[in-house]
Amino acid sequence: MARQTAFITGAGSDLGKAVALALAREGWHIVAVLRRGDAASALAEELRRAGGTVQTITANVARRAELEQATELIQAFGGTLRLLLPAAEVMYRGSFTEMNPRLWQEMIEVNLTGLLHTVQATLPFMESGSHILLPGSVTGWRGRPSWAVYGATKAALRSFAEALREELRPRHIHVTLLTIGAVDSPMWDRIKGEWDRETMLKPEHIAPWILHLVEHPEVMVDEIQILPLAGGFGKRDRL
Ligand SMILES: NC(=O)c1ccc[n+]([C@@H]2O[C@H](COP(=O)([O-])OP(=O)(O)OC[C@H]3O[C@@H](n4cnc5c(N)ncnc54)[C@H](OP(=O)(O)O)[C@@H]3O)[C@@H](O)[C@H]2O)c1
Repeated sequence: MARQTAFITGAGSDLGKAVALALAREGWHIVAVLRRGDAASALAEELRRAGGTVQTITANVARRAELEQATELIQAFGGTLRLLLPAAEVMYRGSFTEMNPRLWQEMIEVNLTGLLHTVQATLPFMESGSHILLPGSVTGWRGRPSWAVYGATKAALRSFAEALREELRPRHIHVTLLTIGAVDSPMWDRIKGEWDRETMLKPEHIAPWILHLVEHPEVMVDEIQILPLAGGFGKRDRL
């Protein structure tokens, strides 16, 4: 089969990187978008060693012009996309009453506006049978104290996914909401609290389900929820 192309933001860490690696092992072309350039060459090397061909670029997803530049790299792989994973995000947790507005503005700019820019900028490259995977979160449907704005960005994503799916159905482009539970990642080092890291999902638990999706383009999957069997959240989910 001809090599297929994926466009992944947030490709330098956790979910984005785990999926990029899984696709690289299957011989995919990968356009990997990172926020920081210092990690780009090591990531490219790792993906190439795994079997992929790679173009890396640094871009802030909240800036449309930078994203447009990133989409130009799709041309290097033939100009069509089979998979889009907009996994760039920021997460700040804390009491909404006390949260600095700069923090919630950044969450909205990256998790929502940045994601919308990413989808719109890449849509011209998406072919019939291709997949858009939108990373949702349990916090998008189960409100939790101290996750108010982050959860709101994820709840908005659910509504966006449903509308976009119908809009793109005539073009046979799949839109799947990928709702995942807590994943053991360095993100949890940065968040105040006691976390049951042992019982969380591992980033590599997610990728096989994504591969299964893209291998069966004749099937429409609206949403996948991947949750850790053992619960995998906080021992004390409060500030
Ligand atoms: N980890 C979990 O437990 C979990 C659970 C449920 C859902 N998810 C979802 O999975 C997706 C990925 O999560 P993750 O755990 O992989 O997150 P992560 O480890 O925090 O990684 C997010 C990535 O986004 C990049 N990024 C942040 N702001 C950016 C910007 N303005 N422009 C471009 N890139 C930017 C970061 O780059 P830097 O490294 O340079 O900052 C980082 O590589 C998210 O949508 C998240 O909601 C994760």
